[in-house]
Amino acid sequence: MTTTEFDPGLLGEHCWLECANGERVMLPVTRWQELDSSDELLLAACLGPTLDVGCGPGRLVEALTRRGVIALGVDVSPVAVDLTQARGAPALCRDVFDRIPGEGRWRHVLLADGNIGIGGGSRRPAAPGPRAAPAGGQRADGARPARNRPAPV
Ligand SMILES: C[S@@+](CC[C@H](N)C(=O)[O-])C[C@H]1O[C@@H](n2cnc3c(N)ncnc32)[C@H](O)[C@@H]1O
Repeated sequence: MTTTEFDPGLLGEHCWLECANGERVMLPVTRWQELDSSDELLLAACLGPTLDVGCGPGRLVEALTRRGVIALGVDVSPVAVDLTQARGAPALCRDVFDRIPGEGRWRHVLLADGNIGIGGGSRRPAAPGPRAAPAGGQRADGARPARNRPAPV
């Protein structure tokens, strides 16, 4: 994906992913905008400094910040970063494979809504887990509501 391919969806337009076999998967673009009940499991697990990787429009960073949890969104898309900051939540325009502030000191790393696949798919977890969180930190994989449970990194 390039930095802009998600942008229409981040702005709320209906979008889909086209798989290699031609199958189209609708993206849950409305879900990215506002919290729903399944987000609570993720949020409740984040009791310390939390990095939201591929934060999109920033609903999770905003919610954590409102709860007094130190949180930072990183996203490769400037549109995502603008949307997150417009909610009053901190975000940086950064590819997660670049250097990230506070590497090794984040207690939780969120990979919500399929972001476990950033950089390689579910068999190869995205890089920020081990690098961004210390030993004993947690990576929360929110690919599906039922899987919204923190996993050790
Ligand atoms: C499926 S959306 C999920 C948005 C958000 N996590 C949510 O639940 O609302 C994926 C997001 O990951 C971002 N992204 C994709 N590759 C990235 C990378 N290498 N580094 C940082 N962000 C990335 C995209 O720009 C997009 O905003």
